[in-house]
Amino acid sequence: MSVYRLKCFGLLLLLVLLVCSSLDGCEGRKGKHWRRKSPSSSLARKKTRGKSGGGHNHGGGGGSGGHTSPPPSSNQSPCPVTGSPNASKPAMFDVLDFGAKGDGVTDDTKAFEDAWAAACKVEGSTVFVPAEFEFLVGPISFSGPYCQPNIVFQLDGMVIAPTDAKDWSVGLLWWIEFTKLRGITIRGSGTIEGRGSVWWTNTNSDVDSINDELSLRTPQMKPTALRFYGSYNVTVTGITIQNSPQCHLKFDNCEAVQVFNVTIASPGSSPNTDGIHLQNSRDVMIHHTNMSCGDDCVSIQTGCSNVNIHSVDCGPGHGISIGGLGRDNTKACVSNITVRDVNMHNTTTGVRIKTWQGGSGSAQSIRFSNIRVTEVQTPIVIDQFYCDKSSCKNQTSAVALSGIAYENIKGTYTVKPVHFACSDTSPCSDISLTGVELKPLQEQYHMYQPFCWQTFGELYTPTIPPIVCLQNGKPAGNRILSDRDVC
Ligand SMILES: *[C@@H]1O[C@H](CO)[C@@H](O)[C@H](O)[C@H]1NC(C)=O
Ligand SMILES: *[C@@H]1O[C@H](CO)[C@@H](O)[C@H](O)[C@H]1NC(C)=O
Ligand SMILES: *[C@@H]1O[C@H](CO)[C@@H](O)[C@H](O)[C@H]1NC(C)=O
Ligand SMILES: *[C@@H]1O[C@H](CO)[C@@H](O)[C@H](O)[C@H]1NC(C)=O
Ligand SMILES: *[C@@H]1O[C@H](CO)[C@@H](O)[C@H](O)[C@H]1NC(C)=O
Ligand SMILES: *[C@@H]1O[C@H](CO)[C@@H](O)[C@H](O)[C@H]1NC(C)=O
Ligand SMILES: *[C@@H]1O[C@H](CO)[C@@H](O)[C@H](O)[C@H]1NC(C)=O
Repeated sequence: MSVYRLKCFGLLLLLVLLVCSSLDGCEGRKGKHWRRKSPSSSLARKKTRGKSGGGHNHGGGGGSGGHTSPPPSSNQSPCPVTGSPNASKPAMFDVLDFGAKGDGVTDDTKAFEDAWAAACKVEGSTVFVPAEFEFLVGPISFSGPYCQPNIVFQLDGMVIAPTDAKDWSVGLLWWIEFTKLRGITIRGSGTIEGRGSVWWTNTNSDVDSINDELSLRTPQMKPTALRFYGSYNVTVTGITIQNSPQCHLKFDNCEAVQVFNVTIASPGSSPNTDGIHLQNSRDVMIHHTNMSCGDDCVSIQTGCSNVNIHSVDCGPGHGISIGGLGRDNTKACVSNITVRDVNMHNTTTGVRIKTWQGGSGSAQSIRFSNIRVTEVQTPIVIDQFYCDKSSCKNQTSAVALSGIAYENIKGTYTVKPVHFACSDTSPCSDISLTGVELKPLQEQYHMYQPFCWQTFGELYTPTIPPIVCLQNGKPAGNRILSDRDVC
């Protein structure tokens, strides 16, 4: 072997060891001397071929078949003399290469599953969903925990949900789910289209309703469009999620989550279509995201901490909510939540905290800052008597609320500017208001004055309208916290 060859081989080996993902540059040509063991390498190579051809490889049906053509034999130098080989280019797995049709009619679920299975084995790989195709995909789970980290889901095309009841027989919890992954990114200019209208209609309507067939079996249960469970380092960016049967985007038991430059859209009249739902998740950042939907734009549930939401647009919808916490006498813990630089228009509530009677635990260190409201029914709400039926049993215990700051909440309302209804046994404490200026949209809308019940804290500046019902200082006879309440 010449010195040159040895050097090249050494360099190649080093690159392979360092990057250990894609070998686009040299692998094919070098194949004679060194063969990669990973079963996914043939798929990676196939993809590369498809890409470099400028178009998508539609033929061949099913990349998982064993009929991949052999690597092009050539007597080129195994290492490019100039520049670095493309060894660091991540492996790409195009769903079209796995047999997806993308015609909006054919069920492409299997192709998506196969593309994922291949990508799962390669660290930093990419599943590619090309633009200008419409993929019909049924309920699907992109699941770790044995996947390599940092997989990218490049979504440029449209993924549409089935509207036939039989396609949902596997479950109604989610439509597209990612679970138990370390480093997962969904990005691109594509759309996740839930075609939810079949789920929104009443069973009695003329419209062909999926509920007619499903509601008897599982009333109230409708799939979340995109759900992440038990994952670390999750990013969602660029995409649009629309018309979900119910919640659009959900994070449960996740850590280090980033959502930005995302659009969420469904009609204001669609029932329970939350924008983003957070539960048992921490270190969450949501920004530069527009949400219009039929329920909370963002809903923050128990177990969430270190959540930062900024530069978002919300409306129509029900605003940004923490809770309902403490349902069915459960303990809730929420802390360190910041919501700032938000526009809300035509929402029912603006920034809201709601708890059920009978809960325990606490929600604290919450800051709502620079919230611009237009035509919002009730911009500022704390409701410790939250109840989704006509009446709920009166109970004494409550999720304790403290350390809640409202700063620069300005704009117009249509029903009531401020509503603070706190628990008798566990009054709200350390509620502060600075720069609150809320005006009725039109004089005739000026129906209610600010309301407070058992609400303690401080007004740092005069408010518009004056909020005289806030009690200064701390509640008397501070309740002794039991173990049950400590978070
Ligand atoms: C690396 O990939 C790019 C685009 O895929 C290609 O234009 C270029 O020639 C490749 N470079 C080498 C050294 O293979
Ligand atoms: C988080 O994910 C990004 C993008 O996938 C990746 O570059 C980064 O290394 C990950 N960080 C950790 C700590 O895993
Ligand atoms: C936002 O996403 C769109 C694709 O939906 C993309 O074209 C645009 O460049 C992104 N903007 C930023 C600032 O990332
Ligand atoms: C959100 O809406 C604003 C104003 O309409 C627009 O400038 C911005 O680009 C939108 N952002 C996204 C992510 O679509
Ligand atoms: C406000 O939202 C409701 C519900 O989506 C809608 O019917 C109404 O037209 C909207 N009003 C304005 C002024 O946008
Ligand atoms: C609160 O959350 C932010 C992220 O939103 C984080 O940077 C900060 O360290 C957290 N503060 C505490 C006291 O945990
Ligand atoms: C709960 O208490 C309130 C206020 O004391 C009272 O108006 C209401 O009727 C009670 N509700 C029930 C279900 O007992």
